[in-house]
Amino acid sequence: MKYAVSERLIWLNGELVHVNDARINVLSPTAQFGLNVFEGIPCYWNEEQRQLYAFRLDDHYKRLQQSADLLQIDCTYTKEELKKALTDVVKANDYKENLSVRQTLFVEGFGSWGSEGPVGMFVAPIPRGNTSAEYNKKGLNVCVSSWRRISDEDLSPRIKCGANYMNSRVGQREALRNGYDTCIFLNKAGKVSEGPGSCLFIIKDGILITPLLTDSVLNSITRDTVIRIANNHGIEVQERTIDRTELYTADEAFLCGSAMEITPILSIDKVNIGDSGHDSIVNILHNEYVDIAQGKREEYLDWLCPIY
Ligand SMILES: Cc1ncc(COP(=O)(O)O)c(C=O)c1O
Repeated sequence: MKYAVSERLIWLNGELVHVNDARINVLSPTAQFGLNVFEGIPCYWNEEQRQLYAFRLDDHYKRLQQSADLLQIDCTYTKEELKKALTDVVKANDYKENLSVRQTLFVEGFGSWGSEGPVGMFVAPIPRGNTSAEYNKKGLNVCVSSWRRISDEDLSPRIKCGANYMNSRVGQREALRNGYDTCIFLNKAGKVSEGPGSCLFIIKDGILITPLLTDSVLNSITRDTVIRIANNHGIEVQERTIDRTELYTADEAFLCGSAMEITPILSIDKVNIGDSGHDSIVNILHNEYVDIAQGKREEYLDWLCPIY
């Protein structure tokens, strides 16, 4: 890394600027109302190959575009330009470590929540240290939140926008206040949806089960990755509505997302869930996921975009 984190460069509206000079108007709709859409793009460093891989970049940009369209935020950048902004800022910082790159389209200016523009973009690489493999091994004690997940009828969880994270926040704050690591939301129908920043899988009798994309969940890229890995391993996957009581009788359960990778759940509402030992399905999936993202599996190389 060329610069300390506090001195790093950020891509802002076409220019590489010092992080302290990457400024926005405090009265802007993004600052006031969370009027922005974004992606957290994981990049994995492969020490042997001396290469940094962005994981499923095209899929992240596809979702970014969809989020922008749904909120009518005009994204004027092509996929190639989005990609170039990301690679330029990572290279400028000379990052050779695991990153999460925040790529955000936001509404600037003096407008309000109904404003069309002006639309800005920033790209900020955030170092993650080593893979979260060590952290993941520990597992999570979670609760079912007393808050419901937002629904497609009001604020769609399909949109990855800043404002949606206020629903995540109330669930997460409640969980922490009550001594849990995080929470699982139910949707308005009382069925299982997702975590505040992750999707959920349970495992019962060797079958992986995850809520439908219409059960109030983000169209998670990690969720899709897990399904594809499981399919390739011959593990049956069911995408279907999950009842709350199924959580407590699961053999294993995990949360997944670009930030938390695949993290086992140890207990739900203090009910112990399976064991996430060495040869658990969660463990197998997590190891495979990290190998794929680091470019160690040839059959998945088309998911990777080399930065250097
Ligand atoms: C609410 C929510 N669900 C799921 C996910 C996981 O999505 P992905 O795997 O695309 O990172 C995230 C993280 O972005 C999230 O915020």
